[in-house]
Amino acid sequence: MKVSEALDSRFSCRAFKDTPVPRDTIIEILETAKRAPSGGNLQPWHVYVVGGEELAGFKKLIASKLPENPMGEGSEYNVYPPKLKEPYRSRRFKVGEDMYASIGVAREDKVGRLTQFARNFEFFGAPVALFFTIDRTMQEGQWADLGMFIQSIMLLAREHGLDTCPQEAWAIWYKTIGEFVNIPEEQMLFCGLGLGYRDPDAPINALRTDRAPLEEFVTFKGI
Ligand SMILES: Cc1cc2nc3c(=O)[nH]c(=O)nc-3n(C[C@H](O)[C@H](O)[C@H](O)COP(=O)(O)O)c2cc1C
Repeated sequence: MKVSEALDSRFSCRAFKDTPVPRDTIIEILETAKRAPSGGNLQPWHVYVVGGEELAGFKKLIASKLPENPMGEGSEYNVYPPKLKEPYRSRRFKVGEDMYASIGVAREDKVGRLTQFARNFEFFGAPVALFFTIDRTMQEGQWADLGMFIQSIMLLAREHGLDTCPQEAWAIWYKTIGEFVNIPEEQMLFCGLGLGYRDPDAPINALRTDRAPLEEFVTFKGI
């Protein structure tokens, strides 16, 4: 698979089949992804891979906590700036509307929206869950490095016929996740990621999100 094909075919998969992913495949993906660049070659990432009975137990644990605490435990960082300005605000709004429209959930259907949002906390049915953490002393540059590592994993997953969904939603369960996978105090959780095979029949997986045209974000000078 060409890199461009991996990029074009990656999307945030929000309905997975329960087909297991072989451990060797995950190792192969991670072995290649570790070639991702990082400033000063710090490689400032750590990833916890959870599957099988452990994942089933973890999902049960979250499900038992969700009803009384739908907003989780707060989060250790701002997933978005407190006041999201334009054009970012509109982009965020649009992708949300498009997503709910893809499954026929109307704007005023609060329960329908919450139910779909809660699917985050089942990893959308993915058989494998990854949690990414970073040392608390790391700065913006290293968070960017972590992002490159995660994107590498997502692209390599495509090469193996796998799909992914990066999930910052998990940030609100950082304490429970930390206790479950034993995240040391000096590390903080960035996000989770579901890994598995897409359910091709799930309407939500038909969503293809917009991107701004080049003129909106590219400045050429001298070329
Ligand atoms: C770091 C990160 C965190 C994300 N967190 C969530 C999430 O918690 N739940 C979710 O459904 N999608 C999440 N997404 C998916 C984005 O909504 C998605 O990438 C964006 O709308 C573009 O769509 P695409 O990935 O299908 O191209 C996240 C994406 C990234 C990169």
